[in-house]
Amino acid sequence: MSRGCVVGIDIGTTGTKGVAIDPTTGSVATTAQAEYPVRSPHPGWMEQDPDDWVAAAQTVLHRIRSEGVEILGLGLSGQMHGLVCLDAADRVIRPAILWNDGRSARECSAIEAKLGRERLVQLSGNRALPGFTAPKLLWMRHHEPALYARIRRVALPKDYVRDALVGGHVSDVAEASGTLLLDVATRRWSAELLDEFEIPRSWLPDLAEGTDRVGSLDGVPVAAGGGDQAAAAVGAGILGSGPLSIALGTSGVVLAALDRFVAEEQGRVHAFCHAVPERWVVMGVMLAAAGALAWYHDTLLPDSGYDQMVEEARSCPPGCEGLVFLPYLSGERTPHADPDARGAFVGLSLEHGRGSLTRAVLEGVAFGLADCLDSVRGVGVEAGRARASGGGARSRLWLQIIASVLELPVEVMGSEQGSAFGAALLGGVAAGVYANIVEAVTACVHVADVIDPVADWIGPYREVRRRFRSLYPALGSITEPS
Ligand code: XUL
Repeated sequence: MSRGCVVGIDIGTTGTKGVAIDPTTGSVATTAQAEYPVRSPHPGWMEQDPDDWVAAAQTVLHRIRSEGVEILGLGLSGQMHGLVCLDAADRVIRPAILWNDGRSARECSAIEAKLGRERLVQLSGNRALPGFTAPKLLWMRHHEPALYARIRRVALPKDYVRDALVGGHVSDVAEASGTLLLDVATRRWSAELLDEFEIPRSWLPDLAEGTDRVGSLDGVPVAAGGGDQAAAAVGAGILGSGPLSIALGTSGVVLAALDRFVAEEQGRVHAFCHAVPERWVVMGVMLAAAGALAWYHDTLLPDSGYDQMVEEARSCPPGCEGLVFLPYLSGERTPHADPDARGAFVGLSLEHGRGSLTRAVLEGVAFGLADCLDSVRGVGVEAGRARASGGGARSRLWLQIIASVLELPVEVMGSEQGSAFGAALLGGVAAGVYANIVEAVTACVHVADVIDPVADWIGPYREVRRRFRSLYPALGSITEPS
């Protein structure tokens, strides 16, 4: 017998995840996933084949349907900022350049030198960061002029997939916020920035709100959807002031939802549109969070299961007896805005075993999140608690460390599906299953558990965080730019 569900699909960095949820309770009927590789043809470059995403989305939809799910409404979310270039026949011109790709640092400096950082923030809400879409387009203009000359359309990752499934050339304003071409305050493409960068408007998609219906797939209404961070916030019920969202995916993000546009004059936070109308977000973004743990696992302990690996860290005391890990494996955005920042283990001694190394990685990511939280607080956001999502949120120990470093209780959601869960709710609104997003969240989003800071860890972590913060400037002078 078929079950009517709202379905969300998240086009992530390591794979595509789908979730089908009961629209009245939010309980998960089934999930599916399909993976694909990331290629790094040069240090600091990150690329993927956009057609791998489409194939993965089709596989995931097929698996969900084969579990007897009748899809009532569909929403997509995905890794943000990725540059997909299409020619006049809508063919992909080159592999997509991803959100964590650092090649456009020079273009970012040139943009800020020409416009002035404050004017850029006035126009777009943001400063120029490698990984954002426009600087990568300018990189192509300088370094791949023959390919650049063939561009007729530009798409973002989940929009490329949705367009392939349902047709059209559409983006949502949450996703478009990461291009550096959107006037985030007014939720429109910025004519001034397009002029400044000499990018034709005809290359860009039409804009929609995340809950808008923009097409249908075999008769199923499909929402515009949202960038993964905004969608994860929706999936955690974060629509306005209240708890913060902490997303522990390949990237690590601390996000606050706001009912008005707020930016920081030097662009120290990302100021983006939310995936729901008349709401905005501010966020601090670290480039390697669960991505740092995955690198550590795959490189040093490939034969260990994640649970076993993390369990070994439990017996190691907070602060790892002097061992500190810097998580800047792909450079860093918040707070350093430095694609040449590099990771490190500092303070190793003969006492340190595997458990200490693992715990140092978990703690280093927590300190990076604390830097993100500071920048979000820097624009006046008050934070009393946070809600965690993403693969990393499955580890109770990691959440205890994060709660203790951030000195905030961390709520764990009933569903682990994060961005895909939020995308499903957006799909449900687009399909008319819910009258609006508040109704969807009220029906489906539930807190399952609360992880409090561990009282005895707070003092040691304040001390270790001081050391952590002194290491980036100290190591900057001796690491080699790529
Ligand atoms: C947000 C960002 C990342 C990606 C990866 O600005 O770059 O969170 O969306 O998922």
